[in-house]
Amino acid sequence: MKLHFNPASPFVRMVRVTAHEAGVAEQIELVPTGGVSPVEVHPGVASDNPLGKIPCLVTNHGHSLFDSRVICEYLAHRGGRTELFPHEPVKRFRSLTAQALGHGIADAAVLYRYETVMRPGALRWEVFAERQLKRIDDALDGFETHWAGDLAEVTAGSIAAACALSYLDFRFAHRPWRDGRPKLAAFYEAFEPRPSMQATGLANPT
Ligand code: BEZ
Repeated sequence: MKLHFNPASPFVRMVRVTAHEAGVAEQIELVPTGGVSPVEVHPGVASDNPLGKIPCLVTNHGHSLFDSRVICEYLAHRGGRTELFPHEPVKRFRSLTAQALGHGIADAAVLYRYETVMRPGALRWEVFAERQLKRIDDALDGFETHWAGDLAEVTAGSIAAACALSYLDFRFAHRPWRDGRPKLAAFYEAFEPRPSMQATGLANPT
């Protein structure tokens, strides 16, 4: 399998952590995209994903899979670790919703970066950037209040949450998300030492 990737992307990290948890990481060839621009087409990525977005996984049979959520489920299936996407309905939809919440935090965080770092100064839209920060804060509060029990298990949901929190540590270190959120902080402290996380941090870019 081939994965178009940038080591800083929280969505790529979700895929790589899942690959390790599913025991299939060794089967994936990482194809670096280099710098990622939100406004330019990357020919290598676009040839496999018409949306031009990473992560994109090309299977051994030549099928392109995206987005990160689809790839994660495929890898769990391939590795026989289907409990990462539980079958029991309540657990399943709780886990998928936690995954969406983690994905949403990462999404808002990346949009904020594009708005404040990449968009030309004269075109910046301050209220849009502020809205992303509010979205991140509200979603973090949501995790703290409603999801501590679910996050205790290793599923697509806890993986997405951990990768989103790690991205906040990386790019938003000036906004300490742990303050006032002791359950979420405890979750991350327990999850972050997992070999899947250790193998995929920025210290291990490939
Ligand atoms: C980043 O450098 O923050 C980044 C890189 C790729 C995708 C998303 C974010």
